[in-house]
Amino acid sequence: MLQPDLTYQLLRNLTSPVVAITSQRNGKENGMISDAAVRASIVPTVPRLSVYIHKFNYSHDMIYETGRFAMHLLHTKQSDIVHRLGFFSGRDQNKLAGIPHHKGKTGVPVLDECFAHFECEVANVMDTGSSTLFLGDVVAVGCGAAAGLEPKGELMTATYFRSNMPAEWRSEYEAKLKDAQTLGEELSRHIEPVVWKMPR
Ligand SMILES: Cc1cc2nc3c(=O)[nH]c(=O)nc-3n(C[C@H](O)[C@H](O)[C@H](O)COP(=O)(O)O)c2cc1C
Repeated sequence: MLQPDLTYQLLRNLTSPVVAITSQRNGKENGMISDAAVRASIVPTVPRLSVYIHKFNYSHDMIYETGRFAMHLLHTKQSDIVHRLGFFSGRDQNKLAGIPHHKGKTGVPVLDECFAHFECEVANVMDTGSSTLFLGDVVAVGCGAAAGLEPKGELMTATYFRSNMPAEWRSEYEAKLKDAQTLGEELSRHIEPVVWKMPR
């Protein structure tokens, strides 16, 4: 029989580096955090990545309705960005207001500081019930506002963030995770087949 808590702890070994996902819809910018992102192509001329985003997050509909997002790998000195973008929703505030960023080539916000960033156009989606898996074609790449493509600093992994976040954030983090798990539990049971059409 499955032991849910132990199974979840084992599955945590499958989390990705911590990424910041930004989007823009009708002039409104937003950003969130995920640790469920992965390279989705080994072909250098067809660069792709994928990420799972919960349907109840504000970013979800912004990305679904525009077909665009930017994914940023972060470095280990950027825990404050994880807190700002990953602990509060953009429904209630402009989370990017205090974070230096610029408009990328596709119009989505790109963080000036990061390990590396990838601007994407959605190529396909898969419904998972509680979230959507977005497959993105990488259409522009960089290391934030820095010139060139040489990342600086140490990549922020999910384990690094969980082990090194300030103690006063931990209960908030655990509570948010619990809420998302509760919301996700019901939604996860119903999966719809979806055909993706780029919104225009
Ligand atoms: C370390 C970390 C990992 C997270 N991973 C995910 C994830 O994989 N998918 C997701 O939808 N939300 C994830 N979240 C939660 C969202 O970042 C969070 O709910 C955020 O407030 C959503 O913002 P929005 O409502 O403005 O889109 C994660 C948060 C943290 C701190």
